[in-house]
Amino acid sequence: MTILVGYSSKYGATEGIAERIARKLREAGREAEARPVASVDNPGDYAGFVIGSSAYMGSWRKEATEFVKRNRELLATQPVWLFSSGPLGAAGKDAQGRDLLKESEPKQFEEFSQALQPRGMQVFFGALDPAVLGRRDRLVRRIPSGRDLLPEGDFRNWAAIDEWAAAIAKELPAG
Ligand SMILES: Cc1cc2nc3c(=O)[nH]c(=O)nc-3n(C[C@H](O)[C@H](O)[C@H](O)COP(=O)(O)O)c2cc1C
Repeated sequence: MTILVGYSSKYGATEGIAERIARKLREAGREAEARPVASVDNPGDYAGFVIGSSAYMGSWRKEATEFVKRNRELLATQPVWLFSSGPLGAAGKDAQGRDLLKESEPKQFEEFSQALQPRGMQVFFGALDPAVLGRRDRLVRRIPSGRDLLPEGDFRNWAAIDEWAAAIAKELPAG
């Protein structure tokens, strides 16, 4: 049966991560498809779930959060992995020297770790292209700390994403 790599992506960075994970799972011999969570009509058709969203203001996007909440009972009985795409910049630490990936865990991770007992929860570096941002997101970047916290560029770490996907594949039966 197929593994769903379900995602919520505002500007495409998380979509790219989800597509990559699905491709890596297929290359490892697992059936997998990447789809926006909002377009998943029959979650019961899947044998496992990798669910991801970008983080904005410390939080997953609403449609991803709602997908998990709506399907909480089903997900609790299936293998589940969660990922979040967010932190930007080439440095692994924030200004206080803290691990940026750890600091960028969306607030939903704690709640969902209790409810779903996921097999893995991972934060990945994201991407930001100022040219495509909506008006409100552009304004946030204009506040003094905004530009420092939200630098322009594609910081997605494909090696880390591939490694995570390979570890997931190992836990799933082939075919
Ligand atoms: C206004 C704004 C707020 C953001 N807030 C956060 C945040 O709180 N935590 C985080 O890790 N990333 C944050 N980011 C970075 C995005 O999550 C990152 O660019 C992500 O890869 C975008 O993915 P998407 O194109 O799939 O939505 C923010 C970006 C913008 C533009």
